[in-house]
Amino acid sequence: MEEKIVIKNLTKEFYDEQRGAIKAVNDLSFTAYAGEIFGLLGPNGAGKTTTLRMMATLMKPNAGTISINGFDTDQDAQNVRKSMGFLSATTALYPRLSPREIITYFANLNGYPEENTKERVEELIKHFGITKYADTLSEKLSTGMKQITSIARTIVHDPPVLILDEPSSGLDVIVAQKIHEHIIDLKNQGKTIIFSSHNMGEVEKVCDRIGVINNGKLLTTGTLDELREITGKYYMEEIFIYLVQEYESVKQKELETAND
Ligand SMILES: Nc1ncnc2c1ncn2[C@@H]1O[C@H](COP(=O)(O)OP(=O)(O)OP(=O)(O)O)[C@@H](O)[C@H]1O
Ligand SMILES: [Mg+2]
Repeated sequence: MEEKIVIKNLTKEFYDEQRGAIKAVNDLSFTAYAGEIFGLLGPNGAGKTTTLRMMATLMKPNAGTISINGFDTDQDAQNVRKSMGFLSATTALYPRLSPREIITYFANLNGYPEENTKERVEELIKHFGITKYADTLSEKLSTGMKQITSIARTIVHDPPVLILDEPSSGLDVIVAQKIHEHIIDLKNQGKTIIFSSHNMGEVEKVCDRIGVINNGKLLTTGTLDELREITGKYYMEEIFIYLVQEYESVKQKELETAND
């Protein structure tokens, strides 16, 4: 399996006047491979977005390394950016531009060959079912239409790695399902996708492997079946709650008993 994302001992601290030092990401390591959807889960404030922002070269870690498509985020940020599409949870579309204009703009911004841009944009508009509103100002679009447009603009330059921070948050089940189909389709094309979500049902459905973080630390990673094995629980929701609330103390107790 080809390693596409390699994160080693990643750490990020913030300083906040009120809260003091915050270890948002604490010695985090994981690897994601070509052709897989890796789910990054964790409670609110666990450090998911901070991790994804460092991967997208929008923020520098205090320690640790990130390699994406063979490029180091610190040494070669430009090639990292070319190798990935990043959809942040707070991405807004330019209100005065239409989906067609926005997708074209991102193709240019990410260095997609100019002579092929028009064809690529039209292909995506058709593929994502945007045709009917491709020329409507994005300020007039619904949340779902905006999100589909955002996904199209994230992948327009055809990068091997996609980083999606809560891509289906706020969407109805039909649009969410469409987005799942697109993401699975991209995976089948061999892309590596990092997928963060609070929706345990969709995580069960789309993720090949799952990493759960809490307080900036990675608790464990595995396939759904492996997580079932580790936790003794069946549904992702129960697995998640167990990992976040009990796993650490159970492991600690086991260690103490072993040392007795
Ligand atoms: N710019 C910042 N300055 C100070 N603290 C920050 C900053 N960004 C994030 N944090 C803190 O870092 C921690 C991790 O936040 P982060 O946004 O990565 O969590 P998250 O896992 O994405 O949560 P959510 O599920 O709510 O999106 C939180 O305690 C947050 O308050
Ligand atoms: Mg977040």
